[in-house]
Amino acid sequence: MDTLFLLLALFAAVVLTAAYAVHTFIQLIRLHRGAVPFVRSDRRLVKKILDEQLLPKQGMILDLGCGDGTLLFALERFGYAGPLIGYEHSIHPWASGILWARICGSNVRLVRGDASHAPLEKASAVYLFLLEEALLHLRQPLQASLAPGAIVVSAEFAVPGWNPIRILRAHGVTSREAPIYVYRAGESWGQEV
Ligand SMILES: C[S@@+](CC[C@H](N)C(=O)[O-])C[C@H]1O[C@@H](n2cnc3c(N)ncnc32)[C@H](O)[C@@H]1O
Repeated sequence: MDTLFLLLALFAAVVLTAAYAVHTFIQLIRLHRGAVPFVRSDRRLVKKILDEQLLPKQGMILDLGCGDGTLLFALERFGYAGPLIGYEHSIHPWASGILWARICGSNVRLVRGDASHAPLEKASAVYLFLLEEALLHLRQPLQASLAPGAIVVSAEFAVPGWNPIRILRAHGVTSREAPIYVYRAGESWGQEV
């Protein structure tokens, strides 16, 4: 019995290690091709956003490239009225976020699809934690559709060509003093890149 249990545990460990290796390999290929991997915002950076009230407590907040919706669930816990909506094109983080929302009875909405299809014109604020290429992909739709005065918070990476109204620092994924860029629609639009 002990031997059987040991063999099963060994088998499970081998399968999990292999799955992890394949997953890491796929992520590296995607990263090499310019895709943004799923990495959650650092909780200390999220705390800074909450403490500084960088996002409005009322009105629609969009997380474009929301992963598993961690930021949106945090906003909901801290009383942000929303609607709180995330767009994510990668199935794994999206599915785990959907599951978590069901388990918690959350009102956070996670949509599977490209972030450029989000209802930008209705948003009071947008949150971004993306690499430069993905930010460039979204910059034009954001400029074209956001209502004047809407807030854009971009964690750790600046939106190329935009002028931030504030830059804060918090412990992030890329450094201990990672920047948080705050933009205001209209006011922050810079020259075309
Ligand atoms: C660094 S993670 C950030 C996750 C989440 N926003 C957070 O802060 O915890 C970026 C996510 O954006 C997704 N993503 C990148 N570009 C996207 C796009 N154009 N549309 C939808 N999702 C996108 C990636 O699949 C990845 O899961």
